[in-house]
Amino acid sequence: MNLMLSPLIFIAASLIFSPTSAFDNSRYDNVAVYWGQNSYGATHSDTANFQQRLAYYCNDNAIDAFPVAFLNIFVGPGGLPSINLANVCNPTDNSTFPGTALPDCSSLASDIQTCQSRGKIVTLSLGGATGSVGFSSDNQASAFAQTIWDLFLGGNSSTRPFGNAVLDGVDLDIEGGSSDHYAVFVNKIRSLTDGANKRYYITAAPQCVFPDASLGGVLNTASFDAIYVQFYNNPCGLQSYPIASNWNFGIWDNWARTTSMNKNVKVYIGAPASSTAAGSGYVDISTLQNIAVKMRQSFPSFGGVMLWDASQAFANGRYDLAIKNALAAAGGTGFIYPSCSAPAYVSGSSYPGGSKVSYGGYIWQAKWYASSQPTSNPNGEWSAISACSGSGVLSSSSTHTGLPSTTTTNIQPTSTINTPSTSTTSIPSTTTPTSTSTPGVPCAGIPTWDRTIAYQGGAQVVYVAHLWSAKWWTEAEVPGGTTEVWTDDGICALSIRHVAETNIRPTS
Ligand SMILES: *[C@@H]1O[C@H](CO)[C@@H](O)[C@H](O)[C@H]1NC(C)=O
Ligand SMILES: *[C@@H]1O[C@H](CO)[C@@H](O)[C@H](O)[C@H]1NC(C)=O
Repeated sequence: MNLMLSPLIFIAASLIFSPTSAFDNSRYDNVAVYWGQNSYGATHSDTANFQQRLAYYCNDNAIDAFPVAFLNIFVGPGGLPSINLANVCNPTDNSTFPGTALPDCSSLASDIQTCQSRGKIVTLSLGGATGSVGFSSDNQASAFAQTIWDLFLGGNSSTRPFGNAVLDGVDLDIEGGSSDHYAVFVNKIRSLTDGANKRYYITAAPQCVFPDASLGGVLNTASFDAIYVQFYNNPCGLQSYPIASNWNFGIWDNWARTTSMNKNVKVYIGAPASSTAAGSGYVDISTLQNIAVKMRQSFPSFGGVMLWDASQAFANGRYDLAIKNALAAAGGTGFIYPSCSAPAYVSGSSYPGGSKVSYGGYIWQAKWYASSQPTSNPNGEWSAISACSGSGVLSSSSTHTGLPSTTTTNIQPTSTINTPSTSTTSIPSTTTPTSTSTPGVPCAGIPTWDRTIAYQGGAQVVYVAHLWSAKWWTEAEVPGGTTEVWTDDGICALSIRHVAETNIRPTS
């Protein structure tokens, strides 16, 4: 029996643990999951689902990167930092190095090495929501980088919390304190890792609100390999997708490709791994899959999904594995630019909320009534909803020949909603959009939502091609936003939908 079985066991084992290809930062299907804070345990009492040791989470190919959370005190007793990994290792329950508050977690070295041997990276996350962090000078930031190198990365020290395990980089999850001097820290880490015989990664986890209050400065002045944008606990969180005035992945893509020092920096969608993992932003797995795949197909900087945290993901039906499967199915390599299918932006024109235009390598959607040129400005009138290649088609009667009846890309917008476009006379009658076969609620005559108007309960508005009813008195609360004051009555029937999306008054 043994002779018969052992090859089978060997094959089964190699299927489970292979391929052990090394982490590839350039891919589009990476899943990064924070480990260390036992988020499940903070909100539940059934200890069976509490955070396990690290190696428990790297038994399959779901998770590619583990930021270990957190190094929460930069400078503690003895001049050394402190780390707190909740129920797995902390300064209270575990022994500390003499004269410090730094716990000896060296029994985790084998867990880290096991995950690394399976092709995953394990990095050290600095900060956290309650971290005691920050620098008072460039010299302090530089010295701290040397300390991180010696204690956790390729340096050496007699006070290494993870013993001889060499972590794969650092993650900045700075959510408070001064943002000064962080670029010095990152550059010093880079100078130490550049000469090493192993690849190291530097990431950051900004809030989705752009620019990030704590990390905005260092994100523009130091080089990062990836950013794990927290699309939760904020109005721009996943709960707001696809409301153009809230959802802002396009701003981060534009930052990555035009402002970031590393133009190949990868942008992840950071998501809560269960409804109890964050105050807001949790969406069910099929919604997250749809959003992630859409962003993967729309923005070349997309790198994958980050989850908070491992304990929540495993207890929530392997949310991590489910998103990994969707990302892998969408393709881990290669990016095909969508064509600039929306009409070209026309300078001097005005567009109602929901209008789409092509301009500067992006398709933009008007957040509300827009009369300015699209720019990647968080307070601007436009939101980039997809990168695109080619230029949007300008009005030209010759280009209409043979186009299907639903094509609306060739029509020049006009300055007001209710005035027929000057170009509509050139449209052959066969291109008139028809609404007879299209589902949707009637929205004709309903005004577009205006953030400056106070609405009574029961008032109806059109916003992003949907009909909305106010539940009670409201002003400046965006339909579909977090306050949930508006009831979504459904997508508008096609004729008005085209008005809302492209500022085209259908010909009749
Ligand atoms: C830390 O202490 C806790 C409680 O005694 C223990 O369960 C855990 O294994 C320790 N962690 C390490 C890494 O030794
Ligand atoms: C670190 O390595 C250097 C060079 O091998 C050695 O001189 C130094 O004593 C080591 N320090 C510690 C704390 O082990």
